[in-house]
Amino acid sequence: MLLQNKVGIILGVANANSIAWGCATNAHKEGAKLVLSYLDDRIRPRVVPLAETINADFLELDVTNKNSFKEFFKFIKEKYGQIDFIIHSIAFANKEDLRGKYVNTSRDSFSLALNISAFSLVEVAKYAPDIMKSGGSITTMSYLGAEKVVESYNVMGVAKAALEASVRYLARDLGEHNIRVNAISAGPINTLAARGIGGFSKVLDIVKEKAPLKRNISIDDVGKTACFLASDYSAGITGEIIHVDAGFNIIVL
Ligand SMILES: NC(=O)c1ccc[n+]([C@@H]2O[C@H](COP(=O)([O-])OP(=O)(O)OC[C@H]3O[C@@H](n4cnc5c(N)ncnc54)[C@H](O)[C@@H]3O)[C@@H](O)[C@H]2O)c1
Repeated sequence: MLLQNKVGIILGVANANSIAWGCATNAHKEGAKLVLSYLDDRIRPRVVPLAETINADFLELDVTNKNSFKEFFKFIKEKYGQIDFIIHSIAFANKEDLRGKYVNTSRDSFSLALNISAFSLVEVAKYAPDIMKSGGSITTMSYLGAEKVVESYNVMGVAKAALEASVRYLARDLGEHNIRVNAISAGPINTLAARGIGGFSKVLDIVKEKAPLKRNISIDDVGKTACFLASDYSAGITGEIIHVDAGFNIIVL
């Protein structure tokens, strides 16, 4: 098994459709012991039964709250001491900013989206060396809207561009600790977060028609690549953005 004897943290489970859950089920199958994070009490009742099916610990983490971060990593340090991988699968922007024109984004909306969706990875990386003394792997989730203009993706595209640049800078900073930092650029998947994006179902149809593999991807596709990135099989890969999108990103016409 790819992740036998490894302990991992998976941040951002909201429900059984979450990309984080696709990562969790696959990492569990590959033998990892897991800790899952969920945002708040509203989401907890959906996450607890899921966590129980894979014998995972679960803990609240609101990335806008410094104390929440502190408490989360204190728990990890006290219970596990050292861990092997972290999968960061968290993003947020106000619904009204995920339609219409990017030019209308307010200063507050911009800060909120960048704070939750990109800076949270930087904050995670600050805690990593202390709980990954033998090295480790951090993986985050991005989208094509970081590289190209995707209708309605707007401020989230800018947040993902910051996230992808952060992956490269963090990979350089944490490389001396033998901690690798990578991103998966996932194709569109029908999740809670995605449903907030204007015209999202149209994007699913376009990908299915144009992608080389003639299909959309699943949380299982992403979860399997996330396991590879968490495992020793990717020991030589860091600072990389891997597209798991049925090949859609290579198509122009
Ligand atoms: N679904 C897609 O089409 C798609 C494609 C590419 C990348 N992604 C990325 O994958 C990641 C996971 O999204 P998803 O599609 O699984 O949707 P999701 O709604 O299941 O997951 C998003 C998670 O972010 C969490 N979150 C939001 N604000 C938070 C905060 N302040 N503190 C802690 N957690 C917070 C939510 O609770 C939720 O668990 C996101 O980064 C998203 O941008 C999604």
